[in-house]
Amino acid sequence: MSLLFDIDFEDAKARHKVLSNKMHAADKAYYQHDKPQISDSKYDKLRAELEAIELGYPELAHANSPSQKIGAAPAKGFKKVLHAVPMLSLSNVFSEEEAQGFIDKVRKFLGLSDNEVIEIVAEPKIDGLSCSLRYENQVLVMAATRGDGAQGEDITDNVRTISCIPQSLPDDAPDILEVRGEIYMSHKAFGKLNEKQKEQGKEPFANPRNAAAGSVRQLDSAITKSRDLGFFGYAIGEISEKFANTQEEIREKLASWNIPETPYKLCNSIDDIISNYKYILEGRADLDYDIDGIVYKVNRLDWQERLGFIARCPRWATAHKFPAEQAITRINDIDIQVGRTGALTPVARLEPITVGGVVVSNATLHNEGEIARKDIRIGDYVVVQRAGDVIPQVVRALKEKRSGDEIKFIPLDKCPECGAHAVRIDGDAIRRCTGGLTCPKQAVERLKHFVSRLAFDIGGLGDKIIQSFYEEGLITNPADIFTLEERNKTSLTPIRTRDGWGDLSEKKLFSSINDKHIITLNRFIYALGIRQIGEVTAKRLAANYGAIDNLIDAVTKAQDTKSQSYEDLISIEDVGAIVARDLIEFFAEDHNINILNALKAHLEIKPYESPKASNSPISGKIVVFTGTLTQMTRAEGKAKAESLGAKVSGSVSKKTDYIIAGKDAGSKLKKAQNLGVTILSEQDWLDLVK
Ligand code: IVH
Repeated sequence: MSLLFDIDFEDAKARHKVLSNKMHAADKAYYQHDKPQISDSKYDKLRAELEAIELGYPELAHANSPSQKIGAAPAKGFKKVLHAVPMLSLSNVFSEEEAQGFIDKVRKFLGLSDNEVIEIVAEPKIDGLSCSLRYENQVLVMAATRGDGAQGEDITDNVRTISCIPQSLPDDAPDILEVRGEIYMSHKAFGKLNEKQKEQGKEPFANPRNAAAGSVRQLDSAITKSRDLGFFGYAIGEISEKFANTQEEIREKLASWNIPETPYKLCNSIDDIISNYKYILEGRADLDYDIDGIVYKVNRLDWQERLGFIARCPRWATAHKFPAEQAITRINDIDIQVGRTGALTPVARLEPITVGGVVVSNATLHNEGEIARKDIRIGDYVVVQRAGDVIPQVVRALKEKRSGDEIKFIPLDKCPECGAHAVRIDGDAIRRCTGGLTCPKQAVERLKHFVSRLAFDIGGLGDKIIQSFYEEGLITNPADIFTLEERNKTSLTPIRTRDGWGDLSEKKLFSSINDKHIITLNRFIYALGIRQIGEVTAKRLAANYGAIDNLIDAVTKAQDTKSQSYEDLISIEDVGAIVARDLIEFFAEDHNINILNALKAHLEIKPYESPKASNSPISGKIVVFTGTLTQMTRAEGKAKAESLGAKVSGSVSKKTDYIIAGKDAGSKLKKAQNLGVTILSEQDWLDLVK
């Protein structure tokens, strides 16, 4: 490379800049987006040239040069961290009636009389990204993103650069304190940042939330530091000692420890709640940060405790979302998208339009019935709306704007991807491709689902990689993923030799697969992509059957709908006759069983342990409630039992472990006595589950 010494400093500097930019972009694509843009060998060439220039002009090897970063970048983005207490999400309500419904449900669950006041803390729902701050001995030791709620990413270095977040707390703060809150970017900071982006010829950010997220997810904390970010605390995670009895007191304490808090209102009635909602909705444009609704939280912490959680959301809180933002644009075409389970979804291709700060060019039309009902035609002007992260929707057609050239949509009778018949059965709203896994689109979508975050979570297998490996026949079903490395060893065209790949990225791919040989049963069931089996139902199935073979066996026996296995199956919460039918159909397919067997050979499938259940005295037990309970409602007892890993049944049998007998218990109690089932009073039960 001695030639390079011949170039003068100005030229060297200019070339150095070009190389640096290319390498930074490649680093970013590789490390942050997991999407390599250039091959390893091209990258190595860039680096060699850059280093040669720096050899001649050492002053160019400044701190920002990619040469100074080599080795510093972690192997794969951010370190993962387990949350000591899961980070939850919120359920939503969209109207005054639904807000009232939330209060009614709280009242019913707790068994409160109509005149008992339920105080509600109402606070703005900040549109940013959630973050957990962990303080130990009053010092900030860790900051993490929410991730999947159980496990997030370690963003401590970046969060330390956010000036409004205290690095240490006053002495009266508990020894362990996790503060949950939202990192956001103010409108002012957002405006400035986008000006700067434009000046530097970079793409502007779509909205403050994207800008905040992009700023936090930087491997270089100097970049985060240069972005003016804010933080609001709104909840707590793990704490070493209790310091409040109400949500309001939590807020007050956090504020006294210098954690920024939003304004809020303590509401005593639904009228209070609604007038506050309207007030904030009207005034939101005056705020210097984006909010997308109001969060309602039951103020009393003892009630919060009793209300507990359902799936990923607390029963004691909900988000009252602001109405979706709308805009008018034209439908250029209607395409059909084929999903994982063969569902054909019509999608409107729109003249691109900005809705609530985001450019929208596609919107879902749900199904053909919906199109007919709304009489939506190709060429129509339509109202589109989007709310938060929800897929944009077509609300209605503006029929008065029709020219007469609009074209009616005619449902396809063949799958646009594989040509198999497309049919609608049993009054199902959805038309489906009957090609099953012979339909390439279904097969690819199933693979994408299999590796997705809540399933196997194999980050190295992004959508594009799955698509191309499928097309090349490298991965045609989930089991192929786990034989890829072996096959690659003897391949004439190993992955590293392909365009965009190299030794390093190949190694990285296999290590991301090898990390996933051990999987929990609930994730495994979810990953199979059985129609209607979402994350929550997968957990219920895993908790009920304990092992994959038990599930296969039980569902196979349940083909006989008169069998006990069928009865057991449909008695699981969320599994009715329709879900049972989908399960039975899935496990009746030889093809699926073959893949399952192939997968089992490569995997260690661990039993599902519900978070609290493992050390609970009623884990795995079958309990029955009967009679009138006085200290809790039936719903509350059932929810508590389930959260501790027990199964609640409506009838007493030999299998029943405990019967909780309230006042005036009748025939069930008698039967339990006859069968010798352990009988608990309501108080015994409360002592047991405390
Ligand atoms: S409370 C159990 N309060 O909204 C507590 N969340 O849609 C759960 N969010 O993940 C969260 N402002 O990132 C809460 N005042 C607020 C909030 C808030 C924004 C976010 C948070 C959460 C998401 C749920």
